[in-house]
Amino acid sequence: MYIFGMESSCDETSAAIVHADEAGNLTIKANIVASQVDVHRLYGGVVPEIASRAHVEAVSRITKEALDTAGIGIKDLDCVAVTANPGLIGALLVGVNFAKSFAFANNIPLVAVNHIHAHVGAAYLAHPGLRAPYVALVVSGGHTQFYRVDTDTDYTEIGGTRDDAAGESFDKVGRVIGMPYPGGAALDKLAYEGDPTAFSLPSPALAGDSPDFSFSGIKTAALNLINGARQRGEELCAADMAASYTTTIVKGIVKQTEKVLAQTGTKTLVLAGGVAANSHLRRALQELCDKHRVTLAVPPVSLCGDNGAMVAAAGYFAFCNGERAGTDLNASAYD
Ligand code: KG4
Ligand code: ZN
Repeated sequence: MYIFGMESSCDETSAAIVHADEAGNLTIKANIVASQVDVHRLYGGVVPEIASRAHVEAVSRITKEALDTAGIGIKDLDCVAVTANPGLIGALLVGVNFAKSFAFANNIPLVAVNHIHAHVGAAYLAHPGLRAPYVALVVSGGHTQFYRVDTDTDYTEIGGTRDDAAGESFDKVGRVIGMPYPGGAALDKLAYEGDPTAFSLPSPALAGDSPDFSFSGIKTAALNLINGARQRGEELCAADMAASYTTTIVKGIVKQTEKVLAQTGTKTLVLAGGVAANSHLRRALQELCDKHRVTLAVPPVSLCGDNGAMVAAAGYFAFCNGERAGTDLNASAYD
């Protein structure tokens, strides 16, 4: 069967076509991403109204491009999957309304997908044998959460951030040290050039048995160091800050993941979300999983950021689970 995936929750409009064979092996036939990053970069972050308008402009064009790239017609589609929550409400509404019209005008079943589940769905595209149960760690611009995934569609949150997400904290510090938006990927590279012990920063990992995080403390500490130096007419070494910040965040995530592995006894960990592209985090979690003989399933960097293929993958499992959405489907900003 062919699943059409539509993503528009933030600043990426994406339309994809994924093929599922009878055994449930998923293959990407097209994954077209229209990124708005260059527009939002002018403002140092995502401007919701501009995002919504850019989605409207891109959505029909990339849908046609996805069908052409896959070499199939609308009549070949068996399911339309769309991100319905969480995200920017205006941005989500564009994808949801487009997908509803597309599905009902062409008599194709519609499935609503949660954006977090979609990020996890990306791991299935790269690891064909992956099946629940497992534990998922989703680290993105808006989330840093652990989930127990009991079936391929059944998610229970078991820990996560109590304030900021890892991605937004990377972006904030990146912006203050002069990186263009979004700073996460640039900080990843710059961290290789600095001294990870140059600055002492508070861990984002909560103490005791808690697997939760707080990224507001480390973010504020870094900003105070940078701004304090500027008030004295000095400029901190950006590479040292990138290295110290990244190392402290990665160590904190590893510490909490080790607790979750022990608490759940899981044999498989899925790492997903935009920040799963971070090379330091990927390496550290691979080492942790090797140490505990846990299989780490992580999407390739190209599928970590927002894309339609991951929505189609998660949509496939929802479809197989009998889930269907109607014309009354609405978008929601919340989880
Ligand atoms: O999942 P995503 O594309 O959008 C949300 O659902 O939020 O995640 C975007 C986030 C941004 O904060 C971006 O800076 C971060 O992922 N990111 C990275 C890297 N690549 C993207 N953060 C750290 N290291 C990277 N290599
Ligand atoms: Zn995302």
